[in-house]
Amino acid sequence: MVVRHSGDIRGLVEAGKVAAETVAEMAKKLRPGVTTGQLDGVGEGVIKRYGAESAPRYFYRFPGATCVSVLPVIAHGIPGDQRIRPGDVVNIDVSVYLNGFCADTGMTVLVEPKNVAAHKICRAASAALKQAIKIVKPRVLINEVGKVVQAEAERHGLKVVRNICGHGLGATLHEAPEYIINFYNAREKSRFAEGQVVAIEPFISSGAEYAKEKGDGWGLTVPRGCWVAQYEHTLILLKDETVVTTARA
Ligand code: CO
Ligand code: CO
Repeated sequence: MVVRHSGDIRGLVEAGKVAAETVAEMAKKLRPGVTTGQLDGVGEGVIKRYGAESAPRYFYRFPGATCVSVLPVIAHGIPGDQRIRPGDVVNIDVSVYLNGFCADTGMTVLVEPKNVAAHKICRAASAALKQAIKIVKPRVLINEVGKVVQAEAERHGLKVVRNICGHGLGATLHEAPEYIINFYNAREKSRFAEGQVVAIEPFISSGAEYAKEKGDGWGLTVPRGCWVAQYEHTLILLKDETVVTTARA
């Protein structure tokens, strides 16, 4: 969506706060022995406490309140009875729908003992998101996101997962611009618009450049032995300022 007035901004920021708190509460409960379904229950509790809805469930009938993906699953993991083990790499992605406004945020969390290779990927993905947030502004070419994300990955000898990308959102979970890709495409000529709401979500990998379907209708996986991390925030691109609605306190 493109924000029209301060009420839109307020609504988006409120949704963003709920999404950020949900991710943070879930990450706090992440430890060996807990199941992905129990983590999802924690997330659902926060979402409900604010009178919000799970956006993936509301818009797509996703079979969970949140996405909990344990490597080799990297995205859209269905929460269930899978138990977290020491050293797991877990992605928590939360999208909420509150009073007609959406927010989408995610982070990769390492379970102790932290794997050194995975930690390096997390740092690169987090740095890539920070850099992308800095350059995304009204009238900037959308492909600048891919340019900085790919450069950050390559600087560390890493790859970008090319078939998962950022997206517009606001009144629903996925809107124009449909694909904010994480690698550079010189032929992409479209630009961000003033007031646009976008989710930026680099996926950085130690090897795989494409995620494959897991076969459960949702999950996306990479080959075993490959490390992947993702961080995601929702932004409102105002004329003089970028509002990160899902910023963690
Ligand atoms: Co997300
Ligand atoms: Co997203």
